[in-house]
Amino acid sequence: GDAFKLKAHPKLPKDKIIALVVLDGWGEATPDQYNCIHVAETPTMDSLKQGAPDRWRLVKAHGKAVGLPTDDDMGNSEVGHNALGAGRIYAQGAQLVDQALESGKIYDGEGFNYIKQSFATNTLHLIGLMSDGGVHSRLDQVQLLLKGAAEHGAKKIRVHVLTDGRDVLDGSSVGFAETLENDLAKLREKGIDAQVASGGGRMYVSMDRYENDWGVIKRGWDAQVLGEAPHKFKNVVEAIKTLREEQQPKADDQFLPPFVIVDEQGKAVGPVVDGDAVVTFNFRADRMVMLAKALEYEDFDKFDRVRFPKIRYAGMLQYDGELKLPSHYLVSPPEIERTSGEFLVHNGVRTFACSETVKFGHVTFFWNGNRSGYFKEDMEEYVEIPSDSGISFNVKPKMKALEIGEKARDAILSRKFHQIRVNIPNSDMVGHTGDIEATVVSCKAADEAVKMIFDAIEQVGGIYVVTADHGNAEDMVKRNKKGEPQLDKNGNIQILTSHTLQPVPIAIGGPGLAPGVRFRKDLPGGGLANVAATVMNLHGLEAPSDYEPSLIEVVDN
Ligand code: 3PG
Ligand code: CO
Repeated sequence: GDAFKLKAHPKLPKDKIIALVVLDGWGEATPDQYNCIHVAETPTMDSLKQGAPDRWRLVKAHGKAVGLPTDDDMGNSEVGHNALGAGRIYAQGAQLVDQALESGKIYDGEGFNYIKQSFATNTLHLIGLMSDGGVHSRLDQVQLLLKGAAEHGAKKIRVHVLTDGRDVLDGSSVGFAETLENDLAKLREKGIDAQVASGGGRMYVSMDRYENDWGVIKRGWDAQVLGEAPHKFKNVVEAIKTLREEQQPKADDQFLPPFVIVDEQGKAVGPVVDGDAVVTFNFRADRMVMLAKALEYEDFDKFDRVRFPKIRYAGMLQYDGELKLPSHYLVSPPEIERTSGEFLVHNGVRTFACSETVKFGHVTFFWNGNRSGYFKEDMEEYVEIPSDSGISFNVKPKMKALEIGEKARDAILSRKFHQIRVNIPNSDMVGHTGDIEATVVSCKAADEAVKMIFDAIEQVGGIYVVTADHGNAEDMVKRNKKGEPQLDKNGNIQILTSHTLQPVPIAIGGPGLAPGVRFRKDLPGGGLANVAATVMNLHGLEAPSDYEPSLIEVVDN
């Protein structure tokens, strides 16, 4: 409608074909052997950096620049794509939960009052990622929530943990489990029946995304809800230590098999039953949506739930604004509205978005402010290329880069769209495996996909914008304060599977780019949120006045 009409840009024309490429997990760092982007052959991305200093720069992709609580928080895809798509910086889930816990407002909210109705007679279950990564969840928030729930009347509490090793070092789950056990013991001293009930590694149990593999959710369901799992232990620390050592090949934190904690009689201590309350304590949406559907939807056919207990379920946040999923939540999510995608379709910009399954929602759902679906169906086309499933991506590090490149190329050459937006997942997804050699291969594949897209842009006289959502593959080792690789007690380097605090590149170019366009010099602190206005300008439109400023200016020459 009219509320979305944008003014024409005074100098830049409309109707250009623009390829907007997001390299997932592609940061800028000192070149050394742990910088896989440096080690890999990446001629296309290298030429951008060397070629045009006015059209290549770095932008911030972590911490406060993307709405995270502190500048010690690494970037991630959710906040990165939210910022890229929305053009403004929102206080994100991590920070909103911190505030709600600190003020105590979380306990006055609708969500908490809803689950509280179960406390007198039933169990409160907490399910989520046990980590201090701050990407999906944070253990210190869970600790506060446990304490608060007990103070507000919870008498029986069961925690269902998912081990991380992806946003934090592999092996750190043991320490987190000890911390959690300590807190639960303190609650038990106060007469509260509090225990860990089940667990499993996040990539194998419960935290799939974008409907890649419902088997992952089912494994979690069986352990958490039904109390059934192939492995049974007396406590969580023993469970994690044993599974890490006994699996052949060795399972790391990300891929621990599901287990349940059992009592002296061998009975699971915490299945979910009628009348119980359940909270999924992750604040980040993508990897909770599938579990939330299983917990909330009466009609459900993705796997056999066997039992569908009548529970009171709340998410830490509402995970999907369009689906209103879940309907109860402890903290309101950031209200990300008036995103660039919504503006553009109301200003005649036909949009094509594509990635493979594991990142498909990044360029659609996250991009559009955590909303599923189209804004204007006749103006948009979203294409998902099925990801390989059931493998770790270091086995096939090229992933679907080529296929994404081809789809983008075809969309560009069809001349049906003004914006062709893709996410190329390789450097992130393979970077998270910690396999350095495979990550190098993945970066090369990503660069080749970029080349394909550039060639098509060349043919149609278009423009390209290439950037990234956060760092990952450019630094694969944990470092000390001096920046040197930090050794563990055996003298080995510690592989960094997580994202980084590094800035990311942004480059613009292509035959359609007006000759006077260059990056402004007066925005040295620019971040991902500045990209939306930049892209709007390149589409020949002025950005809304509340957007973070555009990175470009047009000089006469
Ligand atoms: C994941 O969910 O895979 C990681 O925790 C974060 O990676 P992403 O932010 O790149 O998706
Ligand atoms: Co990642």
